[in-house]
Amino acid sequence: MIGRNDPCWCGSGKKYKKCHMQIDATKGNTGVTQAPDRRIKSAEEIIGMRKAGAFNGELMDYIRPYVQEGISTEKLNQLVHTYTLDHGHTPACLGYHNFPKSVCISINNVVCHGIPSPHVSLQEGDIVNVDLTTIVDGFHGDSSETFMIGTVSAEARHLVKVTAQALIKGVEAVKPGRPLSDIGDAIEPFVNSYNCSVVRQYTGHGIGKKFHEHFSVYHHIAIDNREIIMKPGMTFTIEPMINLGDYPVVTDRHDGWTVRTKDGSLSAQYEHTVLVTEEAVEVLTLTPSHQSTDTIITMPE
Ligand code: MF3
Ligand code: CO
Ligand code: CO
Repeated sequence: MIGRNDPCWCGSGKKYKKCHMQIDATKGNTGVTQAPDRRIKSAEEIIGMRKAGAFNGELMDYIRPYVQEGISTEKLNQLVHTYTLDHGHTPACLGYHNFPKSVCISINNVVCHGIPSPHVSLQEGDIVNVDLTTIVDGFHGDSSETFMIGTVSAEARHLVKVTAQALIKGVEAVKPGRPLSDIGDAIEPFVNSYNCSVVRQYTGHGIGKKFHEHFSVYHHIAIDNREIIMKPGMTFTIEPMINLGDYPVVTDRHDGWTVRTKDGSLSAQYEHTVLVTEEAVEVLTLTPSHQSTDTIITMPE
């Protein structure tokens, strides 16, 4: 518990009461229970996060070849579920706030949180995001990719490429000593220059023993978070959701989960879990062979 006169958890150096105390109160006190530097992982926790990230990357490598025309999204869910359990780990999505499946699969105008179904099969021309999150020895790894099924429209391909590059821009903006808002500042102008828009309602997030912890990572130019300084040992996700049309989204009234673009336009997403290092950044949700900025994204030409 942070006292009113303690330094704020965000690292601004200001007293808590002069900084995030009011904001936390309006958000239901989430920040208040965090000890001052809980956001910075210990050496031991970093080892745990590396392991969780590496497994999530391995799971993505496993599932990638199955993401093909004709497969049902429920079948993909089962493959993810079984592979995770067979390796002794836990699918984080299953039961998270009552989410009913082990993976989120979001097709075309679905922005995120699509629920796998035996009645939905991938079709030629679809763009499909597969968002995997695994708990390994208590730590979370969270990453997603958008796949193009067979031949897709030129505009769909454009969107997927812009989105992949948006994640790279975000990862490249991670530097110790810089504000967290550098990420959105790098992503949004880039995305807008390609006539796409950045979803604002969903963001990246701190990650560790909890799925969503400590702070939001904005992918757009936001007024919040300018005072949160990236420090070595922080772990969070960067996961831009990019729309071909406008950024507003709506949640399905019946299932309470499926998020769609309000204007019906296509949406794509890529996500990685990253660690701030002394030098810059380490992408955790990759198998070790992929550790370089050119190859952090797997995408066909
Ligand atoms: N994987 C998503 C994220 O990137 C969260 C999914 S929550 C679920 O933050 F409940 F829908 F699984
Ligand atoms: Co995430
Ligand atoms: Co995710």
